[in-house]
Amino acid sequence: MKCFVILCVLAITYAKHIVKDKEEKKPVCEGIKVHGKIHEEKVLINGINRPYQLSYYKKNSTDHILYFSYNVGLQNESTFMIGYAEAGYPVPKPVTAVKNGFATALNHKEEIIYLGGSEGIYVRNLTEPAESAKTHHLIPNHDIWDIFYKHSLYFIAFPSRRLYKVHSHLETEKVELIHEKLYQFVIDGDGDTFISNKTGLYMIRKDSHHRIHMKGATVFRAFEVNRKGVAYFCGQNEVYVADKEKHSLVEIATIKNIFGLTFDEDDNMIYSDPHQIVKLLPIDCK
Ligand SMILES: *[C@@H]1O[C@H](CO)[C@@H](O)[C@H](O)[C@H]1NC(C)=O
Ligand SMILES: *[C@@H]1O[C@H](CO)[C@@H](O)[C@H](O)[C@H]1NC(C)=O
Ligand SMILES: *[C@@H]1O[C@H](CO)[C@@H](O)[C@H](O)[C@H]1NC(C)=O
Ligand SMILES: *[C@@H]1O[C@H](CO)[C@@H](O)[C@H](O)[C@H]1NC(C)=O
Repeated sequence: MKCFVILCVLAITYAKHIVKDKEEKKPVCEGIKVHGKIHEEKVLINGINRPYQLSYYKKNSTDHILYFSYNVGLQNESTFMIGYAEAGYPVPKPVTAVKNGFATALNHKEEIIYLGGSEGIYVRNLTEPAESAKTHHLIPNHDIWDIFYKHSLYFIAFPSRRLYKVHSHLETEKVELIHEKLYQFVIDGDGDTFISNKTGLYMIRKDSHHRIHMKGATVFRAFEVNRKGVAYFCGQNEVYVADKEKHSLVEIATIKNIFGLTFDEDDNMIYSDPHQIVKLLPIDCK
């Protein structure tokens, strides 16, 4: 069961977080350090259960929309669903058309969002008002573990955890060059691929098949590429970028119990933990 695997990865650290809900307001110039710089936390959505797989789209100067998966099961169970929340309306609205919705990915160029669940991949047009936007069933007959978009749509199927590529007429093809059973997959701005499996993280340079093991963390919850094409890797309590020359990971932020990560239009980090979705904004400290 996919739910069972997810439960194992996510639920372990869940319990100890509950007591930390009512944190005191932090004095200025304390916060989370990102790339060595202090950031303040701006809570976008609060009171949701294990938000995961975040995608952020900016509509105009005042409106944004966040898509994510979240848990609608009992505390001891994992039943995922995809929802969205718009600026100023922090209560998630479910996308009920997507059965067991779990994965999200944005195609910025076409301004559409892909949503994956147990019955395939669905698509929604982000330029239409979210209330009335239609949810089209794009790719049937696959249980979706993860989705990634760069020039083409890729997905990891479940339970095989093999990588597939979607071609222009929507035929799906297993990517033979990636034979691993994957947890996560991204291609960064240089065209280098990163994959993770049970053993850890590997880099496959553009035009190469050679797997380079990246030293450091081995358990990840999210991979995400920012607007500049830099790949970010979320461990359980930290965010990393790759040092591609030294074949290792560099920790750029410590965030307790991080579940998901995405970026806004200015590449500010947006992360989730077991209860909330938070944006990190740099503050000037003298
Ligand atoms: C942004 O878009 C929303 C509709 O999604 C509209 O109601 C709002 O007026 C727009 N704001 C601006 C500043 O254009
Ligand atoms: C979750 O808890 C409920 C009520 O305590 C119980 O009935 C159910 O079997 C539990 N589910 C799992 C997966 O442990
Ligand atoms: C999304 O909707 C807009 C407005 O209705 C339309 O112009 C655009 O072509 C649509 N995009 C896609 C990818 O279908
Ligand atoms: C993960 O992938 C690497 C690189 O292909 C491989 O050496 C390793 O055996 C794989 N781990 C598992 C558990 O399959």
